Amino acid sequence: MGDLLTINASRLLCRLDELSRLGATPEGGVSRLALSNEDKLGRDQVVAWMKEIGLEVHIDRVGNLLGFRPGQTRQAPVLFGSHLDSVRAGGRYDGAYGVLAALEVLQTLQESGLRTRRPLLMAVFTNEEGARYAPDMQGSLAFVGDLPVNEALAATGFDGSNFGAELQRIGYAGDFPCASIRPHACLELHIEQGPVLEKEGIRIGAVEAITGISWQEVTLKGVANHAGTTPMDLRHDAGFVAACIVARLRHLAAELGPAQRATCGMISFRPNVINVIPAEVTLTLDLRNPDEGLLRQAEERLREFIERAAAEEGVTVTSRQLAYVSPARCDPRLVAVIEAVAADLHLSCRRMVSGAGHDAQILARHFPTAMIFIPSRGGISHSPAEYSSPEDLAAGANVLLQAVVRLAQ
Ligand code: GLV
Ligand code: MN
Ligand code: MN
Repeated sequence: MGDLLTINASRLLCRLDELSRLGATPEGGVSRLALSNEDKLGRDQVVAWMKEIGLEVHIDRVGNLLGFRPGQTRQAPVLFGSHLDSVRAGGRYDGAYGVLAALEVLQTLQESGLRTRRPLLMAVFTNEEGARYAPDMQGSLAFVGDLPVNEALAATGFDGSNFGAELQRIGYAGDFPCASIRPHACLELHIEQGPVLEKEGIRIGAVEAITGISWQEVTLKGVANHAGTTPMDLRHDAGFVAACIVARLRHLAAELGPAQRATCGMISFRPNVINVIPAEVTLTLDLRNPDEGLLRQAEERLREFIERAAAEEGVTVTSRQLAYVSPARCDPRLVAVIEAVAADLHLSCRRMVSGAGHDAQILARHFPTAMIFIPSRGGISHSPAEYSSPEDLAAGANVLLQAVVRLAQ
């Protein structure tokens, strides 16, 4: 009977609107950095909704929100959800959509009276983005037991804050134990954040693999000196080396093939003065590839380049790995379920690879996991311009509903 159910699209869209007011930016997006005041507002609202629809809500030691709906049995649950944190100046849908669609699926089931055989578990993971604390996907890493809770709590943010103290401050330092639930299957519904579905006119993506991600922070130390009096061949210019590294990223990506990504998203100069040769530069490097061998090659080639460029300029280098997440394969049986559900709902569907990182890739290391994507207008994400149409938002949530019911029966 579950196959006749459909979600309430206007309720889902209203909630998306309401949530996007919490941490709203003037450009029309949101800034809800992990464990910030805005993240607290979003969490408070979602927890209130979870309780309103009758879920049993628990908060675990790293602040993951867990909402249980009992099944006919006490078998392992079917888990689905996403994250509420955003990047700075991000969009309204990244993460929030998967969370609110999970809520909508559960409310639809509550109203229908349909009790699945397996319990259902809605999950909202802490700090998926990694925009404030590295590594990214901290909540799901702790949930599966791959990151010790104390290590997560000890993390220092890019802003100098402490994860554990911020978690306490916003009131989300829970006591539910991490690494204590072993789901039967996990699903994450998300906007694609890329151009493929829109370009091909396809409504649903069944994600079969998720990219690997390597994050590093590189600090270059040179010598501050006068911009006018220091001859060009006598400089130890940390800024020059940083610029060479940034320019190198394009060539590196071209060498390693179309799936390779390479980005410098943060850079800071010291003393950052117009007429002073930079004494110190800190920059971040984000390398991605769904092929782990190629990702390791990218890291290695870049490391060699950085050492050579720094040595030539007489600049010293220190680097720190901020995150390494290996590429993940989704569970073929779950991917097939998503395809079958899409076919039943008369929605076109293709298999695809995710170039964005997701909590699903951490879950996939331990439990059968897959992702459902819907189109992103213009392929834009991590930007206030992020947009997915109401029809696609509703379609994705209906695919989630049917997939959850099939996996839980
Ligand atoms: C998170 O969205 C990431 O892919 O970095
Ligand atoms: Mn996301
Ligand atoms: Mn994101």
